[in-house]
Amino acid sequence: MDGVPCLRVSQRHAQYFRKCLQSKGVLDHSLCFLKEPEGTVLLPISQSCLSHIDLLSLRASDSCCELVWSQQVKKERRRVTANKLEQILQQLLEAHGEEMTEELRRDIPHNFQRHGDLVLLGDSCFSLPPWKKLDQQLWAAVAKGLEAKRLARMSRISRDGFRSPVVTMLLGGNSWVKHVDNGIRYEFDVTKSMFSAGNITEKLRVAAFDCRGETVVDLYAGIGYFTLPYLVHAGATHVHACEWNPDAVTALQKNLVANGVLDRCTVHQGDNRQVQLCDVADRVNLGLIPSSEEGWPVACRLLNKTTGGVLHIHQNVTSSLLNPAAIGDDTQRVSGKEADREAWQAWANDTAKHISTLLQEITAAQWRTNIQHIERVKSYAPRVHHIVLDLECRPS
Ligand SMILES: C[S@@+](CC[C@H](N)C(=O)[O-])C[C@H]1O[C@@H](n2cnc3c(N)ncnc32)[C@H](O)[C@@H]1O
Repeated sequence: MDGVPCLRVSQRHAQYFRKCLQSKGVLDHSLCFLKEPEGTVLLPISQSCLSHIDLLSLRASDSCCELVWSQQVKKERRRVTANKLEQILQQLLEAHGEEMTEELRRDIPHNFQRHGDLVLLGDSCFSLPPWKKLDQQLWAAVAKGLEAKRLARMSRISRDGFRSPVVTMLLGGNSWVKHVDNGIRYEFDVTKSMFSAGNITEKLRVAAFDCRGETVVDLYAGIGYFTLPYLVHAGATHVHACEWNPDAVTALQKNLVANGVLDRCTVHQGDNRQVQLCDVADRVNLGLIPSSEEGWPVACRLLNKTTGGVLHIHQNVTSSLLNPAAIGDDTQRVSGKEADREAWQAWANDTAKHISTLLQEITAAQWRTNIQHIERVKSYAPRVHHIVLDLECRPS
């Protein structure tokens, strides 16, 4: 879900809802209310409090409200923050006998990640020489402008196979941050692990599964993005969490303790292809993109041989705007959404066949696979979508 979570209410009831949200401590005071042309008002809600909001209890007899995700409020927040940061930096430059030029203005960051009181900047900002002269004063000013206490900078994703970000602290010593997401506490070291904020819809979907009585294997556990919702909300009896990055394992273990679920999780540190488990899983989560294909044989080996189970297979799928059925004929353009859906379905069909073959090879028995659902998680680039295939696999 993109944007800022807001409660949409009628103008007439805006004050009533504002007071309700305020008394529950869930109103996001860093953002402005937004009046919509239709006579409704958007009241921004702190993302970390989303799970505490009970819409039914908020609704009074003659009023109603709905939860929406607003891009406009997000843009407004960005604009207000950008203006404040620019003003502070302009004053700092002037104090050092420099002027704010258009070039310097373009070198101020407009996108960044917020992790509590720590702001993580990208690497395409503050690259010009005048900033360098300001030294530590620059970071103190940026932190003030962004209302942060700590600052860090991300350079690039390293190519060491661990998908670790190269993050360096600019201001503040402690690089551990905390997130509360859907009632789950995640802690990690920003200089060692990444938080995949874009997976929020998938984490909420997993949280809503009913996994009571099930053994789940999370093949790419990271700091527990899916392992924790399986344990905390979906009620899995046991989760085997595989992860080869020692820094992620440290955070994962901390998070299992913080959420009180350590006793229901076994962490397998190392390459999941070497894991000494088989015939145990009712469900296997394969949360690796662009593709988890290397993990498919492992997942098939892990599935319970007698009852089978469900695989949740993540993949980035690229669609073409040309309808392949029409090529060679009158090449016909299909709508983007239609082309995407066709590409996802084609990939899901191929994957289902591939998994059936693998299962047959591994168990020497016949299996049926059934595409239960295809979930779109997020768009990576035009025509590239991160999707999840829920594939039910049962021995025939
Ligand atoms: C991008 S993270 C995904 C975390 C989480 N599933 C998500 O989607 O947000 C992938 C994780 O898988 C781990 N990983 C990749 N290949 C692995 C392998 N063969 N065995 C164990 N862990 C692996 C990486 O270290 C990383 O922490």
